[in-house]
Amino acid sequence: MSVDESKRIIAEKGVKHLAFIMDGNGRWAKKRGLSRSLGHKAGVEAMRRILDYMFELGVEHVTVYAFSTENWKRSKDEVEALMKLFSLQMRSAKKDLDEHRSRLVFLGDKSAFSPSMRKRMIELEEYSKDNPRTVNIAMNYGARAEILRAVNALIEKGEGNVTEEKFSSMLYTSLSPDPDMIIRTAGEKRLSNYLLWQAAYSELYFTDTLWPDMQNSDVDAALEEFARRVRRFGAVV
Ligand code: FPP
Repeated sequence: MSVDESKRIIAEKGVKHLAFIMDGNGRWAKKRGLSRSLGHKAGVEAMRRILDYMFELGVEHVTVYAFSTENWKRSKDEVEALMKLFSLQMRSAKKDLDEHRSRLVFLGDKSAFSPSMRKRMIELEEYSKDNPRTVNIAMNYGARAEILRAVNALIEKGEGNVTEEKFSSMLYTSLSPDPDMIIRTAGEKRLSNYLLWQAAYSELYFTDTLWPDMQNSDVDAALEEFARRVRRFGAVV
């Protein structure tokens, strides 16, 4: 499999949106006798590498799971290290967004973050809002909370007959089509409260590769598998 083959699959199969669960940073670090924080640092590098490859392939929407609503339960040191990494990346983000012509959208409840980080998140969303591609970063995100937030907003509005389209438009991902494929690294085979509504017809792909080891060739392998699957969306074809 090559970059050209992956580009062909994306064009021919109409792949618009790929979503990732970036798992295995901790195990990657442990294997090397490093701290979990260094595993997350390597995870950021892998994320940048894979996002670059997504843009090279012409994928218009990419979503990554960076921090779940449950991740606050990790040790204080690990949470602090992750917050530091996030804010460091955000400092240089404008340059990346310009270069990739991408729109940054944070999925999740921003209110849990520090005021300065929240301000920066909103500023980056606003700064990039006219760019043609979308990068969704799920931060303090949980799918059940996202669904309940939409339900409560609909109740508040007094909406009577809610269609699927209307409901989708109330979710954090309203700017992106549903993911064609969700790729989870590090061997676990579950969705872990990620994009539960949006994943209704997504192909699921699991690899044992730990996230910091993720290479373009792993994406190629996922796309090759995608091309082999017949997507019926519930119909007989
Ligand atoms: C899961 O590995 C990974 C995370 C909880 C964090 C993912 C975050 C990044 C890759 C950084 C993203 C950066 C930005 C700027 C958005 P784990 O710690 O659960 O690994 P383990 O299961 O092996 O312990």
